[in-house]
Amino acid sequence: MKRLFLFLLVACHLMLVAKANDGSSLWLPTERNATPSKVVKGSKCKALEELKNFYKGSTPVLLRLDKKAGAGDAFRIAADTQQITLTASTTSGLLYAAYDLLRMQQLGDIRSKEEQPAFDLRLLNHWDNLDGSVERGYAGKSIWKWDDMQIVGKNVSIAPELQQHICDYARANASIGINGIVINNVNASPKMLSDEILRKVKAIGDLLEPYGIRTYLSINFASPMALDSLPTADPLDSQVRLWWQKKVDEIYRLMPHFGGFLVKANSEGQPGPGDYHRTHADGANMLADALQPHGGIVMWRCFVYGANHKGEDRVKQAVSEFQPLDGQFRENVILQTKNGPLDFQPREPYSPVFDQIKKTPNMVELQITQEYTGQSRHLVYLAPMWKEFFSYVEPARLRGIAGVANIGDDTNWCGHHFSQANWYAFGRLAWNPQLTSEAIAREWLQLTFTHDENFVRPMTEVMLASHEACVDYMMPLGLHHIFQFDHHYGPDPAGFKPEYPLEWCPVYYHQADTLGIGFNRSSTGTNATSQYREPYCSQYDNLAACPENLLLWFHHVPWDYQMKSGRTLWQELCAHYDRGVAEVDRFHNVWQQLRPLLLRADHNDPRRWQEVEERLLHQQENAREWRQTCLDYFGSFSRMPQNQ
Ligand code: GCU
Repeated sequence: MKRLFLFLLVACHLMLVAKANDGSSLWLPTERNATPSKVVKGSKCKALEELKNFYKGSTPVLLRLDKKAGAGDAFRIAADTQQITLTASTTSGLLYAAYDLLRMQQLGDIRSKEEQPAFDLRLLNHWDNLDGSVERGYAGKSIWKWDDMQIVGKNVSIAPELQQHICDYARANASIGINGIVINNVNASPKMLSDEILRKVKAIGDLLEPYGIRTYLSINFASPMALDSLPTADPLDSQVRLWWQKKVDEIYRLMPHFGGFLVKANSEGQPGPGDYHRTHADGANMLADALQPHGGIVMWRCFVYGANHKGEDRVKQAVSEFQPLDGQFRENVILQTKNGPLDFQPREPYSPVFDQIKKTPNMVELQITQEYTGQSRHLVYLAPMWKEFFSYVEPARLRGIAGVANIGDDTNWCGHHFSQANWYAFGRLAWNPQLTSEAIAREWLQLTFTHDENFVRPMTEVMLASHEACVDYMMPLGLHHIFQFDHHYGPDPAGFKPEYPLEWCPVYYHQADTLGIGFNRSSTGTNATSQYREPYCSQYDNLAACPENLLLWFHHVPWDYQMKSGRTLWQELCAHYDRGVAEVDRFHNVWQQLRPLLLRADHNDPRRWQEVEERLLHQQENAREWRQTCLDYFGSFSRMPQNQ
């Protein structure tokens, strides 16, 4: 008996250790109190439950719901030696306060504070498909296991492990302030709105709701035709309008807390109002009218090109399309625009949609999943890139923020252990865009790995340098879109396929020839610079004033042009590629030196160290491939020697 007990004890311990080291517990506290903490008091809600389970202190904690305590998700923490009081006007506010307190506890620094999120809408966008695949997903299959949910009479039964997994997911999101998710891909299947799937969506939504997370859906604009054989999806057709109204009523009957729709229309082959010669405003307003009585919203994406403005410089097309419609959208429509005008490149100038759309609320869409930043193989911390965006677009001008999720069913959720930092940083910045990249990195490293400064300091530095390193080896000086077709991982500067639209081809974007390289978007070229507000319009337009990190985005520049460093453009390009490669080598060295330290923190389990190590080796190889392929190719035009 005693032996069996000992065996179980050891087995439990091993299981705990294994779980702690495989990345599955993310940044969250893992050690649950053996019995619920008795010093935590307040009315019954998720915040109370979380604190009872994970608060370890002896100072009593009181949760107070106070209608006068600030709007929505805002909260106050008053901490002294006698008591810690959390006050908010809503249960979600209390939940954010609870996670804040737990975070402070984990970081060993409990202080009084008042917090209010910068954005009301802090959403993850999943690009998950019903067949379990994830568009641009690099962490396994979708976490939504539609087939593991069975319709039983009026109910949906979800396998217990799946329920637990969804709750873990919800908890992770709530802990960083995310308050909504769009469940499915913007390239949406009409089946998403079928009776069966809606009931399953409701079952997921019910699990998310206690964590303050609202559910939203991406819709396919032609759903009335695909699902109910209507002859048209014309947004001005009365039958179509009625169809959407009924569908929305049905959704709200199932899910009173439903949030609304995200729409990709007339973009990359998706149906939309343009199919009937109607405008984006016609389409968005039809949906907005159906959602309005229920308090729902429409997030209408501005990622459109190749339709009405075919032939125009792709980076200009969103403004050309949407600016004339500004002022025509219903109040519950928000325009959702990617941070840059092209497509989630490692560095882009901000999208001028944020300058030109003045009457309609805007939301920014960031990409957490690393489609163009090394996927789940490269260590690239994206907070510095997002902070760069906020240095051009005031958060106060935005209604909300969306991040394309990097989550899949991999054990560590995100494929690369360090990709978890991007999910974390997205949430933290969505709550407070003033936080520094450094503060977020430090906090994440401490919560996820160890408090040991000898680990946290060097890895914070690596994380902070990682984005610029990626830009250096993938797209120095503003080069862009020279990725291999379709999968967007490695380099393909020679990429050209006559059967593809020109604006998918790398050669169109770098425009390299014997005279120079870069895309002339100045007033002597496509005049994309004119879409920017001053001072950026003049700055970007002028070769001498244009920031060098965007030089080739806006200008076609001679190979022997003299850069600020005194080098020629060609030499500067070579130097950037070299620096990118050298940086990744350096990251790898740091990681190797940290092996004993991390192993100690991970109870001698080498798993996390090893998994990151393998990816860093791959990143080194891939950075070299970028340098070699690009310099060989561009060198065939410049006919200048490569720096060595
Ligand atoms: C990119 C991405 C697509 C995605 C699209 C979008 O082009 O490669 O997979 O569908 O963006 O944002 O709609």
